[in-house]
Amino acid sequence: MANFQWTEQSIRDYLANTEMAKYQAVPLPFGIVSEGKDRGTSFAMSMAGLDLEGKTFLDVGSNHGLMCFLAEERGAKDVLGLDRGRYVQVATTFADMRGSAAKFVDWDVDEKPISVLGQFDIVACYNLLHHVLYPFYLLGELAKATAPGGFLVLEYATPTGRYAKHEETIDEPFARQMAARPTIAVGWTDKIDGTYWSQSAVTRFMRLLGFKDENIDRMQSPMADYRKIMICHKE
Ligand SMILES: C[S@@+](CC[C@H](N)C(=O)[O-])C[C@H]1O[C@@H](n2cnc3c(N)ncnc32)[C@H](O)[C@@H]1O
Repeated sequence: MANFQWTEQSIRDYLANTEMAKYQAVPLPFGIVSEGKDRGTSFAMSMAGLDLEGKTFLDVGSNHGLMCFLAEERGAKDVLGLDRGRYVQVATTFADMRGSAAKFVDWDVDEKPISVLGQFDIVACYNLLHHVLYPFYLLGELAKATAPGGFLVLEYATPTGRYAKHEETIDEPFARQMAARPTIAVGWTDKIDGTYWSQSAVTRFMRLLGFKDENIDRMQSPMADYRKIMICHKE
């Protein structure tokens, strides 16, 4: 339900006057959508088989809050998003505009353990893995924060594509070979140094964290060929 203290004009003014990442297209009242990419399809595909009704939900790297808002629409409760600084302010403002009860907290996952926040039925982490300094630590914390019987949903960038695109010494065929194997590759762009995990590398690490193969589903991300989705059920 929208918060009627926000008028169409005040929402448009906020969007016009606020610098933001333009990463997520977030539906706001009056048919307004913030400028960004369609990230709802990744959410819909990855959550298609999950019942969110009455479930607690954590989104790590929540950006402008879209996944939290969509989880809420699917009936999730105690919805929490973690991100840094400016992103948290924008997501909190969007929540206010939407009349959403989702909460957003400034939380650098390289500095603070997620698991101190307790356990959640659904833990989501879309496209954060390659941004962090300590990806092994992040995966461990995400697994710990997932309640028994719950699900950990990941979307991540593999070594194909972006790695090959930005690392001049690696050609595309070799990058594809790497992505087909359990590889964790360091790549860099003008913005980030990141680790790019192949599907089998993430799968092996999830096994180490105690997830069984039969409880791990893998699918192609709608974002790009080199992005993948993994849904891990915790017994
Ligand atoms: C590529 S965006 C993905 C956003 C969103 N999860 C999605 O897929 O639509 C990565 C997000 O992770 C956040 N992020 C990067 N490093 C982080 C860190 N150390 N702690 C918390 N959030 C971080 C960024 O601010 C950004 O919102």
